[in-house]
Amino acid sequence: MAVNQGGLARRAPVPAPAAQRARPRRTANEPRDLVRFDVTERLVHWSLGAIVITLIVTGLFLYIPALALSIGHRALIENIHVYVGITLPAPLVVGLVGPWRKGLAADVKRLNRWAPGEAAWFHRARPGERRPRLGKFNPGQKLNAAVLAGALAAMLVTGVMMRWAPPSLITAQTGATLVHDGFFLVIGILVVGHILMALAHPSALRSMFGGRVSRAWARRHAPRWLEEVDPAEAARRRTRAGAR
Ligand code: HEM
Repeated sequence: MAVNQGGLARRAPVPAPAAQRARPRRTANEPRDLVRFDVTERLVHWSLGAIVITLIVTGLFLYIPALALSIGHRALIENIHVYVGITLPAPLVVGLVGPWRKGLAADVKRLNRWAPGEAAWFHRARPGERRPRLGKFNPGQKLNAAVLAGALAAMLVTGVMMRWAPPSLITAQTGATLVHDGFFLVIGILVVGHILMALAHPSALRSMFGGRVSRAWARRHAPRWLEEVDPAEAARRRTRAGAR
């Protein structure tokens, strides 16, 4: 081992472990960040979020009589709940009808498509078992989106029945109230879970504000998506696979 003049031991260069050597590096002309969510997607996400939070809060006031009594104006709260409620599909519809729809439409498709073997993500990997390589969304996000979309659609249908069904349909209205209450619980759990997951993953959360994620994040959490948006990355993977 060589010792330099300052008396500090200079270590002989240690060869990098195989896994590190195989890790692809960013080349000089590759952008460091990638766009994960465009402006339309972020506007749709946050406006839908604001509507859902308003419905949960006003719904709580309607559900717990003591809360409504504490501030009075139950009829006003009910009207806010109902009229905000009927705007529920608006963000998604507006986001999907104009020339701005490209990113959003592609992500709706991605959320609805499950790659073969992807459901194995829900199990703990057994020793030696390979984890599925993920695309832009992980299976937990896909499941959450599907259940939330179904629950919100059920809330819209039952809410409209509760408010506007004719008195002759009283039995249907009673059934609608039961379904509305049941899905309230489901939506509450999903939304709280969604917020906790977002807080636990700051890079993913930041991308819903600023739109971007780092290439390193994409390589780690969404490698199939990175290859989809960057042909050079896909070519590099093919070369590595061929070299093995
Ligand atoms: C995130 C979506 C929603 C949530 C979490 C939610 C939650 C709630 C809750 C907790 C109640 C109180 C139920 C009770 O008193 O037993 C309620 C009542 C009601 N909701 Fe919703 N709701 C949602 C969407 C909607 C929509 C889209 C509409 C339709 C336009 C709607 C219309 C109504 C009506 C008419 C009532 C009855 C009000 C009353 O008690 O007089 N809701 N909702």
